[in-house]
Amino acid sequence: MLIVGATGGLGRALAYRFAKANFTLQLCARDIHNLKKLKNELYSRGFSKVSIHELNILDSKKFQELLNSLPIQPDIFIVTVGKMSGRGESERDFELATSIIRTNFEGPVNLISLIADRFEARNSGSIVAVSSLAGERGRASNYVYGASKAGLTLYLDGLRHRFQNTKIQVLTVKPGFIDTNMIAGHNISPKLKINPESAANKIFIAIDKGQKTTCLTPFWRLVQIFLKVCPDFVFKRLSL
Ligand SMILES: NC(=O)c1ccc[n+]([C@@H]2O[C@H](COP(=O)([O-])OP(=O)(O)OC[C@H]3O[C@@H](n4cnc5c(N)ncnc54)[C@H](OP(=O)(O)O)[C@@H]3O)[C@@H](O)[C@H]2O)c1
Repeated sequence: MLIVGATGGLGRALAYRFAKANFTLQLCARDIHNLKKLKNELYSRGFSKVSIHELNILDSKKFQELLNSLPIQPDIFIVTVGKMSGRGESERDFELATSIIRTNFEGPVNLISLIADRFEARNSGSIVAVSSLAGERGRASNYVYGASKAGLTLYLDGLRHRFQNTKIQVLTVKPGFIDTNMIAGHNISPKLKINPESAANKIFIAIDKGQKTTCLTPFWRLVQIFLKVCPDFVFKRLSL
């Protein structure tokens, strides 16, 4: 299996969860030193079926070369790369907005497209991408991030439609809050966060069950329904 964004909070937890289930791990991230550290940690805990591969999600020209160089062609592909700014920052900063859109949408989409063709050729595989509930409805505090995730979610919907009569799974993960660096420093009640290990376990189970989408917890599934059905005249009064 292949994890892209393996050095992030959720990526690391996913690496451990799949290592525990005895999968052979191919871990990608942009910082080779952090990747080496993660590989050594996994080794020291007895997980030795690990290879590491440097990949910047913005460097799409290298994607094909990376996929060709993998020791094993993966049967599960997870992209968990993501970037978010502080409240309202990317809405006023053109360069930051561009970087968020490219990291959350352009990069994952280009990479998934290549993986999708490979999986289609052999009619099997699981494509998993971590989007966000922020992509369900635009909010004043982070609509650039939300729009980039909405784009990713819609892309995955289309990909799932393309593969509806195949054995290929397309799983969209739409979390609420996961306790990682991404939300460190944000004023979020601990009750609303789940830890990355628990999130990774729920993703593991969703893949195993062949699910199409998951919000990870029943609470965040209810939030998703609320975001869809809440009338505009109520929604605009909320400070979100
Ligand atoms: N945490 C939450 O509350 C939350 C909620 C909803 C959705 N999500 C989504 O969950 C996913 C995982 O995020 P996280 O919570 O684990 O946050 P994180 O710890 O900040 O991890 C983000 C990961 O993205 C990687 N990344 C960023 N830009 C990259 C680039 N140009 N090329 C390659 N990798 C790049 C980071 O690499 P480095 O390790 O090199 O920095 C890091 O591994 C993201 O897609 C995020 O949008 C998170």
